[in-house]
Amino acid sequence: MSLQELESNANALVAPGKGILAADESTGTIKKRLASVGVESTDETRRGYRRLLFTTEGLSQFVSGMICYDETVRQNMPNGTSFPAAMRELGIIPGIKVDTGAKELAGSDGEKVTEGLDGLRDRVAEYYAMGCRFAKWRAVIEIGNAKPSRTCLEANAHALARYARLCQEGGLVPIVEPEVLMDGDHDIETCYAVTSEALHQVFAQLYRQNVHLEGMLLKPNMVISGKGCATQADVETVATRTLECLYRHVPAAVPGIVFLSGGQSDELASAHLNAMNAGRQHPWAMSFSYGRALQAPALKTWSGKDDQVAAAQAKLLHRAKMNSLATKGEYSAALEG
Ligand code: 13P
Repeated sequence: MSLQELESNANALVAPGKGILAADESTGTIKKRLASVGVESTDETRRGYRRLLFTTEGLSQFVSGMICYDETVRQNMPNGTSFPAAMRELGIIPGIKVDTGAKELAGSDGEKVTEGLDGLRDRVAEYYAMGCRFAKWRAVIEIGNAKPSRTCLEANAHALARYARLCQEGGLVPIVEPEVLMDGDHDIETCYAVTSEALHQVFAQLYRQNVHLEGMLLKPNMVISGKGCATQADVETVATRTLECLYRHVPAAVPGIVFLSGGQSDELASAHLNAMNAGRQHPWAMSFSYGRALQAPALKTWSGKDDQVAAAQAKLLHRAKMNSLATKGEYSAALEG
């Protein structure tokens, strides 16, 4: 492992004005997304849709890397070039989701722990050889009914750190993602408290397991009101509370924080990111690693129709541009037009 290579790739992923496109939906999730626009999920439709995304002309102005699912990094362009090689030619760094999903945590009241450590060293080596330079692992933390338990937070933090260290050993920049879900009717202060504790546990484990902070990225949720909460915190409050939480828990050595969108609307996800960057300087780059908030309009426009590929790509490019502006505090709803 070269620390220098890790650091340079981590910094490239959060280069000024750039963020990450998360398109690593598992087979089950992409099936639901495609079904929502009336498309059957087949090897061919998944390949076509993912190719549509990363071949969007000009995307690399705003998007540094794309997170892929295992299937995607094994697929090829019509001319036989592998998808990861094609991405690199287009200026997009290929990344790979390496966890194998959140499974029921034994002994808990329906809480989840993310699996995928068995054999990970060998898989990391294979992905590196295929051209991937970064990875993602997502832990899922639910709020409600005495959840999350300390057991759940600790088990997930431990696994995230083991994953991160293994990735760094094999040359992949780990994206460490402890996602506190928006589901529930909790208020923003509850989200603040749970996110604080989750980040505290995660950074304690990253430290204990010797993860090189300069060669990783953090992918957190924003501190936000639960979806079902009667009082929804406004944009400025979300930005302020999220920043307070991050300043208390994330070492300045981490080069970048790339948020997940987690079910926020496209425009709100841009507005929140913008408010965190507008007129402020931070020790880390503050950018995006959105899935739904980047893809949703493109997916809907495409709806499986070949003659809509260009229109769908225009939608993706627009969202990528809006979020790029938000990383610089230059976004405004008026630009949505
Ligand atoms: P969303 O932005 O849709 O939450 O997806 C990001 C992601 O990669 C979740 O793991």
